[in-house]
Amino acid sequence: MAGEVPRALVAGNWKMNGGLAMLKEPRLLAGMLRDVKLRADVMICPPAVILRRVKSVVKGSKIKIGGQDCHWEPSGAHTGDISAEMLKEAGCSAVIVGHSERRTQHHEGDEVVRRKAQACHRAGISSIICIGETLEERKAGQTLDVVKRQLKGSLPDLATAANTVIAYEPVWAIGTGLTPSTAEVAEVHAHIRAELGRILAAESGQMRILYGGSVKPSNAAELMSQPHVNGALVGGASLKAADFLGIIKVYA
Ligand code: 13P
Repeated sequence: MAGEVPRALVAGNWKMNGGLAMLKEPRLLAGMLRDVKLRADVMICPPAVILRRVKSVVKGSKIKIGGQDCHWEPSGAHTGDISAEMLKEAGCSAVIVGHSERRTQHHEGDEVVRRKAQACHRAGISSIICIGETLEERKAGQTLDVVKRQLKGSLPDLATAANTVIAYEPVWAIGTGLTPSTAEVAEVHAHIRAELGRILAAESGQMRILYGGSVKPSNAAELMSQPHVNGALVGGASLKAADFLGIIKVYA
């Protein structure tokens, strides 16, 4: 409903970490969350090969499962790739697309990211579209322009608040222990909200905008309290149940 703050989402991106030995962490987390009333959805995005295992470990709990990337086609000759449809079949309700590590290490641009987000919607699951500036861009005062360009280029035409989540992840804050000031986070999130308003009109107020980049239990409450911050995309601190819980509990 217009005017209401969207329900938060705290998503853990395990990246290329977590073999079978890590299945104990989501099992622990599911137990820890059992009697906690949350004002947020919780998601874990493990490596694709253990998706089904994680799914069965958290069965019956509040924890949802997501993918870390997908191809834009439903099937075909794309060695090493996974389609959004396959991820849905494995139990995913969302897929991260356009993470800065994909943009940098796999040379993915906005158009590819947009097609991947579209593929998620075709498959009937949500996309979590990542955007964010590099340190050079921030120093050059280009942050708001970069974020606006990535948002416009990566957002599919049929994006809605129900099928799309935006994650603002400043590249220089990822895995570094550095975070923007709360004022800087608030500025970028307000800018994204305003841009969404220009692109999507009616839906814009309800689309979730997550912050990601060195979120940990000690800074989560402050970061999450900023206007238009509707949750977190967490890397390193999502690998241990106790740390991830410390972040999730901001919404308890
Ligand atoms: P860190 O939380 O490890 O900085 O990673 C953030 C991230 O890239 C989540 O997608």
